[in-house]
Amino acid sequence: MLLNKPHPLEVKVLTRRYEYPQKEAIGVDEYVAKEGYEALKKALDMTPEAIIDEVKKSSLRGRGGAGFPTGLKWSFVDRKSPKPKYIVVNADEGEPGTCKDRIILEHEGHRLIEGCLIAGRAIGSNRGWIYIRGEYRTQIEAMDRAIAEAYARGYLGDNVMGSGWAFHLSTHTGAGSYECGEESALLESLEGKRGNPRLKPPFPATSGAFQCPTIVNNVETYSAVPDIILKGGDWYAALGTPKNGGTRLVCLSGHLVTPGVYEVPLGIPLMTIINEIGGGVWKGRKLKAVIPGGSSSPVLRPEECDIPADYDSLAKAGSMLGSGATMVLDETTDMVKLMARIMKFYAHESCGWCIPCREGTAWLAKILARLDEGAGTKKDIDMVDELAQGMMGRTFCALGDAAAMPAMSFVKKFRGEFEAKIANAKVYMPAPQTQPLVVL
Ligand SMILES: Cc1cc2nc3c(=O)[nH]c(=O)nc-3n(C[C@H](O)[C@H](O)[C@H](O)COP(=O)(O)O)c2cc1C
Repeated sequence: MLLNKPHPLEVKVLTRRYEYPQKEAIGVDEYVAKEGYEALKKALDMTPEAIIDEVKKSSLRGRGGAGFPTGLKWSFVDRKSPKPKYIVVNADEGEPGTCKDRIILEHEGHRLIEGCLIAGRAIGSNRGWIYIRGEYRTQIEAMDRAIAEAYARGYLGDNVMGSGWAFHLSTHTGAGSYECGEESALLESLEGKRGNPRLKPPFPATSGAFQCPTIVNNVETYSAVPDIILKGGDWYAALGTPKNGGTRLVCLSGHLVTPGVYEVPLGIPLMTIINEIGGGVWKGRKLKAVIPGGSSSPVLRPEECDIPADYDSLAKAGSMLGSGATMVLDETTDMVKLMARIMKFYAHESCGWCIPCREGTAWLAKILARLDEGAGTKKDIDMVDELAQGMMGRTFCALGDAAAMPAMSFVKKFRGEFEAKIANAKVYMPAPQTQPLVVL
């Protein structure tokens, strides 16, 4: 996958080494020639506390979805624990609309490796895994090549850059499950078990992989670390807004003139991303709605989009920056059909471990499909909201919330469209039976 043609409003940190078009992966020679592994060298002379302090100063927040402060997460690991400590990279990239981590995995694996090494040094770890979704064959192969190069040059191995410190890293392939992107389910899967989420607390920093202290971060999060160490946490923080440091990759999709993956500073106006970088709504049509941070994030109406694109501003607007997948919907979008399709995904991907999620997503999918077919009632619209509210905060992991939040927001903000589906319904003809009726 290629990164888009650079836009003047982009601020390039993660993608600063990329040429356009960047067809090949950046190999170890090119990486080293362009300041690669300089941050690691610097980190090897720093104390773990100093590394964590720098990351805290940078206001780097998790790029996987929840936006948790990265330095704070690292500080939760008890470095004095006699247990091994582990580094885990979440490269599952399952959130619909998200296609940013694959750019890094495919084109600049050494950046990610360097980020993992620095994180490993900060928490006193000697072992890491990159858990990559199974569908990412090209990216898995690219990452394996980068890891082999790093071993050959002594950046990975028993004696990292002659420091006497050992750090080993390998890829681990998932098998196509959205749930395995949830960090505790990911750890179960990494351990060779079915990817069901774990009860939290304890959080992975206390008890993660193989019940040992573990840091789980997104690909993009680790990849931001080398520049933070090289140029300083304050420098990185200043690129964004207070408590929302740095830049992030946004995945623009939907009804735009120039969709694609771009790197923007945190706090850039959301409408600038849409109108300038994304080229505005295509075909001269009007904007109907924006899903700002992956399909789990509550939908925004156009009048709600005049806000900075950072974690806090989007939370204040009742939505989320999430995984940075911004989906733009034009005036022709059938919001009921879209919501029904989104819920079909969640119902399919629910692991079934807990009842509110397993039953909730399945029923929501059925009711939304019924509404979309024009066979629903006004009571069904209320039921979508009621069911979704009943799921919020009552599931083992956040997949339940991820399904419930968009459902509630679609009904709240586009109720008229749901009602119109009922009012405009022709005489309802049930869909043809796909399974034979059982005759007793
Ligand atoms: C159902 C579900 C799926 C998730 N999928 C991903 C994913 O594909 N990639 C990711 O980085 N985080 C994903 N997350 C978030 C992770 O649980 C976790 O918060 C993240 O890896 C932490 O890294 P960060 O702090 O760097 O964001 C998912 C969460 C849930 C509830």
